[in-house]
Amino acid sequence: MNELKIFSPATVANVSCAFDILGFAVEKAGDRMTFRKTAEKGIRIVMKNYRELPTEPEKNVAGVVALAMVEKRQPGFGILIEMEKGILPGSGMGSSGASAGGAAFGVNKLLDEPFGKTELVQFAMLGEALASGVAHADNVAPNLFGGFTLVRSTRPLDVIPLHTPERLSVSLIHPLIEVKTKNARNILKKSLLLKDAVIQWGNVAGLVSGLFMEDFDLIARSMHDGIVEPVRSLLIPMFDELKQAALDAGALGCSISGSGPSVFALSADLATAGEVTEAMRKIYAETDVPFETYTSGINKKGIRILNEIND
Ligand code: HSE
Repeated sequence: MNELKIFSPATVANVSCAFDILGFAVEKAGDRMTFRKTAEKGIRIVMKNYRELPTEPEKNVAGVVALAMVEKRQPGFGILIEMEKGILPGSGMGSSGASAGGAAFGVNKLLDEPFGKTELVQFAMLGEALASGVAHADNVAPNLFGGFTLVRSTRPLDVIPLHTPERLSVSLIHPLIEVKTKNARNILKKSLLLKDAVIQWGNVAGLVSGLFMEDFDLIARSMHDGIVEPVRSLLIPMFDELKQAALDAGALGCSISGSGPSVFALSADLATAGEVTEAMRKIYAETDVPFETYTSGINKKGIRILNEIND
């Protein structure tokens, strides 16, 4: 393959109680990326929008991933990566994860797929480390695997694709303010009480079981985060009101998407998710906070090839 264009989906990390270990991919929001072999060796990045993002490969989230992969394989060609971001950096919807996961996927294709999916997650984590200072995998794993994906461990990396109930849908509201993951991590407490951890473990296990059993009541009972959400929600305008409106409109649960400021809610079907999005929209419509919303199915496939050129 000499050239390919992909859609790299947005992701919702943490899914309320499962900080740093669980995420899912979104059907409707994502980046587009094109990868082309070049005669001149090395990695070249072109930003088609968000031109303020660095294009030096070693400073670019996709670039560091591509550099590590070609370093390992030493191909006899170079790679040009064109990036068109559909997910705003600092939105909490896995913007850096989409760039990093997309780069791992696209470069692997041009190299004739020497790496398996878990290895691609490992490479993509380099991009996350550059973006946030921490090589978390709960965005890049669902970006590459699709659906709900558990990161049981990062050292060694152990990625477990989970069952995704067919009709489960997501509402997202993105206040157009930037929250840097690095900052949203720095404000978190470094330790917690055992009794709080026990409650959180129960909820994580309940959420994962609920997904496998397609038990929406169990999912709803489990979507509670008593550790991270109370701290980070202070950065999000009207968070409590958004959450209450989502739950009143029928959402199973509602929390912060990744490190915020986006807020997500899960619903049992797309129609309910539409009503939930509308309920959250009404909260912000009465403020001067600029925002955008999405109502979407869960993306079960992850990154999608839009077209490929073989010669
Ligand atoms: N798990 C990460 C965090 C996700 O919450 O900091 C960042 O999108």
